[in-house]
Amino acid sequence: MPKIGILVGSVADASINRVVANVLPSLVTDEDVSFEFIDIKDLPVYNYELDGNWPQVATDFKNQVEGVDGVIIVTPEYSRSIPGALKNALDWASRPWGQNSFTGKPTAIMGASISTVGTAAAQQHLRAILGHFNSPTMGQPETFFHFAADSFGQDGSLQDENQRAVLSNFVNAAVAHVNQFAPVSV
Ligand SMILES: Cc1cc2nc3c(=O)[nH]c(=O)nc-3n(C[C@H](O)[C@H](O)[C@H](O)COP(=O)(O)O)c2cc1C
Repeated sequence: MPKIGILVGSVADASINRVVANVLPSLVTDEDVSFEFIDIKDLPVYNYELDGNWPQVATDFKNQVEGVDGVIIVTPEYSRSIPGALKNALDWASRPWGQNSFTGKPTAIMGASISTVGTAAAQQHLRAILGHFNSPTMGQPETFFHFAADSFGQDGSLQDENQRAVLSNFVNAAVAHVNQFAPVSV
């Protein structure tokens, strides 16, 4: 059974991207897939002088990326790019030199913002980074999710049918993408 990591690019407890990411597993039609969230909140700032003596939290993070068949990244846009915390996590995953955990690892990206065009610039930057990593990144559907708090119920479920369709389209395409580029032997 393929396992897909979900990595949220925000470390805020109240992250709207986390609210959206939490909905994704419930919209998957393929029952033969599992999900786990990959946390980046406690990672220190990457420094190559730590190579060979990594903090445990960084080793655990890298092992988690390596343990999944693909990664969905749900990220906000900060200052027309990705948040520093996400870039830092990607730097950790890309090291030590020659051991980039994203090389060959299928990825799918999306983002949520309260504006209609938000995260487009961030997603382009993220695509460039993942391309450099030689990660096959899903091209379509591009997903720039327009977040409205009143679309979600108290239990975190997404009530708006049109928005459910947008997320369902994205996550089911992401599962197919992972299955295509990281086939799992049974
Ligand atoms: C430092 C900072 C920079 C931001 N820059 C942008 C931006 O360039 N484009 C945008 O659409 N929103 C921007 N925002 C607003 C975010 O979209 C908004 O804070 C959103 O809630 C962040 O997602 P999160 O709640 O998942 O962290 C910025 C927010 C912060 C804190």
